[in-house]
Amino acid sequence: MVKQKTKFVCQECGYESAKWMGKCPGCQSWNTMVEEMNAKPNASNRSYVTSGDTIHKAQPITAVKGEREPRVSTTMTELDRVLGGGIVPGSLVLVGGDPGIGKSTLLLQLSAKLAKTNERVLYISGEESVKQTKLRADRLELSSDQLYVLAETDVTLIERAIDEVQPSLVIIDSIQTVYKEEITSAPGSVAQVRESTAAFMRVAKTRGIAVFIVGHVTKQGSIAGPKLLEHMVDSVLYFEGERHHTYRILRAVKNRFGSTNEMGIFEMKELGLEEVLNPSEIFLEERSQGASGSVVVASMEGTRPVLVELQALISPMGFGNPRRMATGLDHNRVSLLMAVLEKRVGMLLQNQDAYLKVAGGVKLDEPAIDLAIALSVASSFRDQPTNPMDVAIGEVGLTGEIRRVSRIEQRVNEAAKLGFKRVIIPEKNLGGWTVPKGIQVVGVPTLDKALEVALRR
Ligand SMILES: Nc1ncnc2c1ncn2[C@@H]1O[C@H](COP(=O)(O)OP(=O)(O)OP(=O)(O)O)[C@@H](O)[C@H]1O
Ligand SMILES: [Mg+2]
Repeated sequence: MVKQKTKFVCQECGYESAKWMGKCPGCQSWNTMVEEMNAKPNASNRSYVTSGDTIHKAQPITAVKGEREPRVSTTMTELDRVLGGGIVPGSLVLVGGDPGIGKSTLLLQLSAKLAKTNERVLYISGEESVKQTKLRADRLELSSDQLYVLAETDVTLIERAIDEVQPSLVIIDSIQTVYKEEITSAPGSVAQVRESTAAFMRVAKTRGIAVFIVGHVTKQGSIAGPKLLEHMVDSVLYFEGERHHTYRILRAVKNRFGSTNEMGIFEMKELGLEEVLNPSEIFLEERSQGASGSVVVASMEGTRPVLVELQALISPMGFGNPRRMATGLDHNRVSLLMAVLEKRVGMLLQNQDAYLKVAGGVKLDEPAIDLAIALSVASSFRDQPTNPMDVAIGEVGLTGEIRRVSRIEQRVNEAAKLGFKRVIIPEKNLGGWTVPKGIQVVGVPTLDKALEVALRR
């Protein structure tokens, strides 16, 4: 009898070794090595990108028949935007997110919407029974004859079901629960996740069916299973949001068919996820006007400007080291801007605790928000309120200069649309574009000057 060869595979990074080790040499994490059977290379594993019956020969690119990918609209504007204009048939999309954030809800809603437009959809749940899925669908008031549901975890049986139903969209909820029988390791292990994804990849590419896969995330926030998974699929979307906020943000981290800096905003309601088409209005809804430390910034989220309120609270520190806390912002950037304020403006901040927050639970990571951060810190430190009708845009350099930012016109237009009266922008951005009616634009060259303009005594 042939001896079955086994190996030990790290569940975090996919490192392989012949013997068990407590600590993975690849990613230094503990207790992640799991015994797995060596999978036999299988003929059907090869060449999944091409369809089965053609002979594969290299050919000039001009000879390849290129149709523009037809896109199927999901009828959800926010989702279409993140996908790059709709679902591409034959694409494989991975949707990751924290437990309970609403992945199943989002995909069930997507399925039902698509089914309503007479596309057949197969929703496969490995986590919930068909009854549970039905209950959820009832609660969300979704139903359609074209929406098929199946509770199954065996990949071979799932493939059979796809053959029977002939859908144009398949949802796999989730990849960590499905398994291939040939592989002996448990569902959710590196080998299972990799092989099952490869199987769905084949389904997608050979039959032109779009497949959405749900993936769980690890404690660190990345999609559980090997990094390889993200390389295999066409698009990776993250569904995120703070547990205590009702807003949920869908971001593309990888997209072979579109831009990755788009974001879709949803609100979790009793009747499921509702699209937020005017995010600025919602993020500014609860603003306390005229308080010190509050500044509104226009940040670009993909191709769309979003106005958000930034808040800072600066208070004398107790003892030990001063605290720098930032929610929704990079705290290193906050420290850097506080150092610039200290050195270039002469504000004594080293013995002050600083707490900064972006309202609404959004994360901002664009250089153009620098000026707003600096202004909110200065406003709270000096206890001088800013004008609630002002918006601040600009990158701050280490010498205290205000640097040019991109897409200034779009940002100012959004501010004007929401009724703001004045925008403070980098002086270098002045000219070359039309200022919308009803808004005043002030260009500032340095941080010093910006403080003079923005803070009210
Ligand atoms: N009866 C209800 N009324 C209102 N909202 C509900 C109700 N039941 C669930 N929800 C909302 O739906 C969310 C769960 O959504 P969903 O099951 O889609 O999450 P998930 O990301 O698929 O979770 P998991 O990782 O466990 O599969 C809950 O956090 C809650 O906000
Ligand atoms: Mg779920």
